Amino acid sequence: MKEREEIYELLCAEISERRQKLDTESSDILTMLLLARDEAGEGMSDIELRDELMTLLLAGHETTATALAWAFYWIHHQPEICHKLLQELATLGDAPDPMTVIKLPYMNAVCSETLRIYPVLELASPREAKSPITIMGQTYPPGIILTPCIYLTHHREDLYPEPKKFKPERFLERQYSAYEFLPFGGSNRRCIGAAFAMFDMKLVLATILRNYNLVLVEKQPIKTERRAVTLAPAGGVKMVMTGKRMQVETKSPSVATV
Ligand code: HEM
Repeated sequence: MKEREEIYELLCAEISERRQKLDTESSDILTMLLLARDEAGEGMSDIELRDELMTLLLAGHETTATALAWAFYWIHHQPEICHKLLQELATLGDAPDPMTVIKLPYMNAVCSETLRIYPVLELASPREAKSPITIMGQTYPPGIILTPCIYLTHHREDLYPEPKKFKPERFLERQYSAYEFLPFGGSNRRCIGAAFAMFDMKLVLATILRNYNLVLVEKQPIKTERRAVTLAPAGGVKMVMTGKRMQVETKSPSVATV
């Protein structure tokens, strides 16, 4: 709670500074939120803006960034995956339309497998049973709190043979139901940012992979680490940029941690 207060203070300072020097031409998200008006012509209060920013930073940014770090790890840990992705991207020509990129089947399979093997959130939000409910032969009384475990579902051998292996092909070979593949939770509390997150992941991957040659600094498998509620790569994913694609390798590669 102490840390939350510190984050609130930082966000409120940013909001008040930006309110004073509002640049209506800017298209960043805070400017858009500051300019937003409801049906009665009212803007958002500082508290409402702060809460929106908390959602975007924690629910939106941290989750997608973590998923991307995992995606970069798997794609380069198994270079044949990078090769297949590049082949698929090459079919789109020099300046691919984002709407075409997000429909690429192998790209979709890689992003789905990334979210299957280490779902960024291991657990969906807890649910309270309002009436008796029977799940797999077990009946739960009203009032009981049930927490769906995304990780355990995604590692069921009967649904995902060799569940510890990163195999995007499984998503090309069959369609998984909302009860089998649930990286964004489900039903009426399903993640509101799911479509946006997939869009974001695919475009970031396509842009970086098409332009840069990257290699992992360390060859050994990366361990998972709990970062608050997320399941993140321990210590980040260190990568070296060895050059621009289709260009001569740079002499002094730069190391980046994603
Ligand atoms: C890869 C990225 C993401 C993952 C894996 C993810 C995962 C999840 C999961 C598992 C839940 C709980 C759903 C449930 O209990 O059924 C959730 C809820 C939520 N997510 Fe995401 N999320 C991601 C990106 C985003 C983005 C980009 C936004 C917003 C821009 C966002 C906003 C939210 C919000 C507001 C909720 C709460 C919804 C509610 O309680 O009604 N998430 N997310």
